[in-house]
Amino acid sequence: MATHNYVCTVPGENLHGHCNRESSIYRLRCIQCDAQRESQRVMVEKEKLENDVVARNGIVAVDPKPKNGVTSKVIDFVEKLIVKWMYDSSQPLHYLSGNFAPVPDETPPTKDLHVIGHLPDCLNGEFVRVGPNPKFAPVAGYHWFDGDGMIHGLRIKDGKATYVSRFVRTSRLKQEEFFGGAKFMKIGDLKGLFGLLMVNMQMLRAKLKVLDVSYGNGTANTALVYHHGKLLALSEADKPYAVKVLEDGDLQTLGMLDYDKRLQHSFTAHPKVDPYTGEMFTFGYAHTPPYITYRVISKDGFMHDPVPITVSDPIMMHDFAITENYAIFMDLPLYFRPKEMVKENKLIFTFDDTKKARFGILPRYAKNEAQMKWFELPNCFIFHNGVSTLLFQIFLSSYSLCRLLFCFLS
Ligand SMILES: [Fe+2]
Repeated sequence: MATHNYVCTVPGENLHGHCNRESSIYRLRCIQCDAQRESQRVMVEKEKLENDVVARNGIVAVDPKPKNGVTSKVIDFVEKLIVKWMYDSSQPLHYLSGNFAPVPDETPPTKDLHVIGHLPDCLNGEFVRVGPNPKFAPVAGYHWFDGDGMIHGLRIKDGKATYVSRFVRTSRLKQEEFFGGAKFMKIGDLKGLFGLLMVNMQMLRAKLKVLDVSYGNGTANTALVYHHGKLLALSEADKPYAVKVLEDGDLQTLGMLDYDKRLQHSFTAHPKVDPYTGEMFTFGYAHTPPYITYRVISKDGFMHDPVPITVSDPIMMHDFAITENYAIFMDLPLYFRPKEMVKENKLIFTFDDTKKARFGILPRYAKNEAQMKWFELPNCFIFHNGVSTLLFQIFLSSYSLCRLLFCFLS
């Protein structure tokens, strides 16, 4: 029988010797055996995690590890001083009042809603919409885009209706729940020198591991899409969150979809699903090159290789379009300019009315941008495409329309 070194765990004793695995009667613990057991435990955990990822089909469980200690409190204190000295708290927060005011609580499935008229018995599904709904009050500014994603669902089955509302359980929301207050940087703060300092507060929290940014910092608050059997809650600064619609209408966040690690960049809130081929087309934009990355996802949920798209500067590209044969990108002069934010007291995204706008037309299965053709337009900005056909018509649609989706249960 193998023997190992051991140590005594009896308080006050200091025994050393050899272990034959029977020595526990003396309350002796073998170092090597402990290490072996720990190694086996880690392997089992890892295997469980990997199986979990596979079982979830590219969906990663989101389990951030924020730290609440002295460091966190010191940063909070510094932030409070910055807000006190530099932020004008008399400014009204339009996006937290009136029709924009947040709903404070989730609503578990509420059955047998009063129905005026008649719901057809054959109707079986759930109507879902998502929008920003901040769980915690901001420490300073707030923009419409900053709120935590909350999904409202109307389950219809057997002629009856059930209402539910649930937050998308993002990494950001979980961490702010852990702290009991707002901790992540807000778009509403990104103006002037104050904006720069608030960016630094976020960077400090991330660097000192007060916040865990390994799962991104997205809100999943902008739009929903249904593809390859998955309901996805989207915000353009992060990866998609997969949400399960339960039989009783309840909504369960499964985790973050990274397409088996093939997705390493942000994902637009407005991907396009081709109803004929079942494919989904998407892109992400970034503040560092490549500023735009185009992706095609097969009807089976496989994400093809990235296609970097060259534009001159980091821009906000909120939407794009596809036709039967092409993907169409909008290189429009709304620039990410942090230096101007500080020097000229502007928002971090700045519209430059001296620059041209342009559309880029790329065969939609292109492996690179070699076949891209760019067409210049008069200076303009376009948030949404309402229609994309072979004629490629573009017009602005209302922001709220992009969040609606009726998701039928199979
Ligand atoms: Fe949108």
